[in-house]
Amino acid sequence: MREELAETYIQRLFAGRIGGSTYGKDTKIYKFEKIKRAKRAALAANPGVEIIDLGVGEPDEMAFPGVVKSLQQECARPENRGYADNGIQEYKDAAAAYMKKVYGVKGIDPACEVLHSIGSKPALAMLPYAFIDPGDVSLVTVPGYPILATHTKYAGGLVYHLPLEEKNGFLPRLDRIPAKVLKKAKLLYINYPNNPTGAVATKKFFAEVVEFAKANKIVVVQDAAYAALVHKGRPLSFLSVPGAREVGVEIHSMSKAFNMTGWRLAFIAGNERVVSAFGHIKDNSDSGQFKAIQKAGCHALAHPEITDAIGTKYKRRLSGLVKILNSAGFKAKMPGGSFYLYVRAPKGVKGGPRFNSAEEFSEYLIREKLISTVPWDDAGAYVRLSATFEAKGERDEARVLAEINRRLGGMDLVF
Ligand SMILES: Cc1ncc(COP(=O)(O)O)c(C=O)c1O
Repeated sequence: MREELAETYIQRLFAGRIGGSTYGKDTKIYKFEKIKRAKRAALAANPGVEIIDLGVGEPDEMAFPGVVKSLQQECARPENRGYADNGIQEYKDAAAAYMKKVYGVKGIDPACEVLHSIGSKPALAMLPYAFIDPGDVSLVTVPGYPILATHTKYAGGLVYHLPLEEKNGFLPRLDRIPAKVLKKAKLLYINYPNNPTGAVATKKFFAEVVEFAKANKIVVVQDAAYAALVHKGRPLSFLSVPGAREVGVEIHSMSKAFNMTGWRLAFIAGNERVVSAFGHIKDNSDSGQFKAIQKAGCHALAHPEITDAIGTKYKRRLSGLVKILNSAGFKAKMPGGSFYLYVRAPKGVKGGPRFNSAEEFSEYLIREKLISTVPWDDAGAYVRLSATFEAKGERDEARVLAEINRRLGGMDLVF
């Protein structure tokens, strides 16, 4: 009876933004579900064989001991027990000092140009509510992290995709956006170093973004989730470019640079009006991250050498993967940043199956080789392999890499 009731009216009450009365009834199987199913089938067909997971987007290790210790101490302090609202000043100060030390960005006012967030995902989810009215447009790079685009649509806005193509260094062509789209555009979402391509931005590109934003009166949201993880040269902040603070914000996450995904901590920095409006939406959405976590976050931000150690590990793993992939016939290049390798998917295996998409190749890899990857078909057929695969120490890492080499060897791929 209860279920029948739910069928009769709850189903009809769902909002259009999640599918209305058809919510949950969609029979289309999405890519991550397909990968999960292929993984389960591969495991069932090969009991006891290790699945090598190159699909995950999070570190395989714990936060560093100093950060853990700081949380242990801080969580026992009564002054940290209550609502944190829009954050403690100490974390904002630490964020401003970090931006200066790591990115050379001077003069960020921690009183009004920084706010914490419970990870960068919620910050990306909230920003559209500060800017997007029905019919407004967000310009969003694809392939990419979809959260700002999803919430633009939830707010009644429209999303215009900017394809990231290899021939352009995986930077969007801002000069190709039609004038009628620009007229309605309010937000530009960029993400460098980029997930999934691993591409890094240049100062020149960021300067172009500033000019573009000013000319078209657009707010820039630069997602810096991987900003500190670069494999050549110094990390680059959008805010280090002249004029950036007049047009936008940058969101820095503790997740990848400090092995703190589950801790949920990030900060937004940059234009004071954007930060203030974000704070308005945030204050009406959550009550802040646990102060003890923010204080442990201060400890992490004061120790950027943690990121250097993490980066060294990914660089070692990525260069191993590049070699293996190239000897298997791929055209892999060391990425500028992030922990991802993004390689063109083959069209088939000589004398074997054909792949009409990266998704089909990815399914083949999991089914036949028990290697899990993430396919992207948004702007060409590519697969993403992550250097965050599970391995306990360097010896185990070498073992996993050798196993990947063994499994990929002997495949005659057609590109
Ligand atoms: C590009 C990008 N932005 C943001 C996030 C979310 O990170 P956080 O853990 O800070 O919410 C991710 C996570 O995978 C990401 O890849």
